[in-house]
Amino acid sequence: MPLYYKINTYGCQMNVHESEKLAGLLEGMGYICCPEGEHADVIVFNTCCIRDTAERRALGNIGVTKAEKKRDPNVIIAVVGCMPQQDGVSQAIREKYPYVDIVLGTRNISSLPEEIGKVLASREAKRKKSDKRYRGADTRLPENYLEIDEATPTLRTSFPNAWVNIIYGCNNFCSYCIVPYVRGRELSRSMDKVLDEVKRCVDDGYKEITLLGQNVNSYGNDLSDGTNFAKLLHEIDKIEGKFRVRFMTSHPKDLTEAVMDEMAASDKICSNLHLPIQSGSDKVLRDMNRRYDRARYLSLIEGLRCRMPDIGITTDIMVGFPTETEEDFLDTMDIVERVRFSNAFTFIYSPRKGTPAAKMEQIPYAVKQERIGRLIKAQNRITKELSDAYTGGVYEVLAEDVAPKYEGMICGRTESGRLVTFGGDPSDIGKFFDVRITASRSASLFGNKEEK
Ligand code: SAH
Ligand code: SF4
Ligand code: F3S
Repeated sequence: MPLYYKINTYGCQMNVHESEKLAGLLEGMGYICCPEGEHADVIVFNTCCIRDTAERRALGNIGVTKAEKKRDPNVIIAVVGCMPQQDGVSQAIREKYPYVDIVLGTRNISSLPEEIGKVLASREAKRKKSDKRYRGADTRLPENYLEIDEATPTLRTSFPNAWVNIIYGCNNFCSYCIVPYVRGRELSRSMDKVLDEVKRCVDDGYKEITLLGQNVNSYGNDLSDGTNFAKLLHEIDKIEGKFRVRFMTSHPKDLTEAVMDEMAASDKICSNLHLPIQSGSDKVLRDMNRRYDRARYLSLIEGLRCRMPDIGITTDIMVGFPTETEEDFLDTMDIVERVRFSNAFTFIYSPRKGTPAAKMEQIPYAVKQERIGRLIKAQNRITKELSDAYTGGVYEVLAEDVAPKYEGMICGRTESGRLVTFGGDPSDIGKFFDVRITASRSASLFGNKEEK
């Protein structure tokens, strides 16, 4: 009988990629990815705590495994990632969910095999009537972890895209955000290691490389060799082969002219940028500790668009930050109209324990909800207007997946990041096509392959 594993992933791309590493570790131990409908022998929850909703979703699903454990006491349940890295949470999980066997934080996921070994050994010992019960690993981040674990194997699951980490952690301490507390300080991988990994991915046939970091623009700040993000992009662009490069996330305070120049000059780096604005009010931005203002943000947009007129710019916007008044919110609405983002991820501010903003007086939930409603409506209109402008044009699209809702169709993105659904079959995935856009529906475009 094969032994199966299942990984439930919550949160950002960083977690998606870390789940690929967890899968690599589990396969290295001989576990096999659990087929649909089968019961898994190891269930891993790779968690997120950016907002209350993310935590509740994970906790709900962890709760459900109680029944799984009743059915088969040999199941191993592991909770890893950002959630247990918060103060007191790992303890709380152990108390509230005693059937969870392993709790690991963000920087020690590579010890999963060892922890599974310990669980198995302690069960064996219990069977032999020993009373020594293993209580699990310490999940806390070492205060100053100085090494990056380069050895963890990756089982990539997102062909033709490959995720490549360039920097871990965050030093910014935006006043609402839990990430710096659960991911620790910034730690850049060496340029050689990153370039090696990108080259390997390209050699293995990956057609899109997405560089990952909470703040990719800080890449190299902690290395003492003069490396920076612009130089990294320059070197990646020199790697031979036909492939695309994207990266996320960029912080507006650190996006440099040099990075914009590299993007504009390069063949491989897509004219596509995710540049979270969070708010259009200078006062709120200050209270958020974002360290840029409206004027700086708008001048970045101008700098990007004059270099790359077709660039697709997406953003994150938060409403209902404690100090946000109606007037501040209108500043956000105003900047959304000015910038005309191709898409925006919108969030209701969620207080995170231990962050400065959580201690401020909060805005009623109904007010936040009403504001996000107005914001989404405006952005949907803009997204649709920008989509309509693609109709009739021909764009290069990398076929990335079968289209989820349309039989006989596949989907992929333009260089600017627009999703396009078009006729094709699974054997097309990983190939580039010129696609003529025939219709648009909100954020999605539809089209046909052009005959070559
Ligand atoms: N490092 C990235 C963001 C990572 S979190 C950056 O600096 O842009 C992704 C998004 O979640 C953020 O951009 C923000 O809009 C949102 N977010 C972060 N903390 C939040 C909170 N407490 N409540 C609601 N949304 C939050
Ligand atoms: Fe959070 Fe700010 Fe760091 Fe982004 S830059 S992860 S929002 S603290
Ligand atoms: Fe969530 Fe952790 Fe990412 S808190 S957003 S999974 S860094």
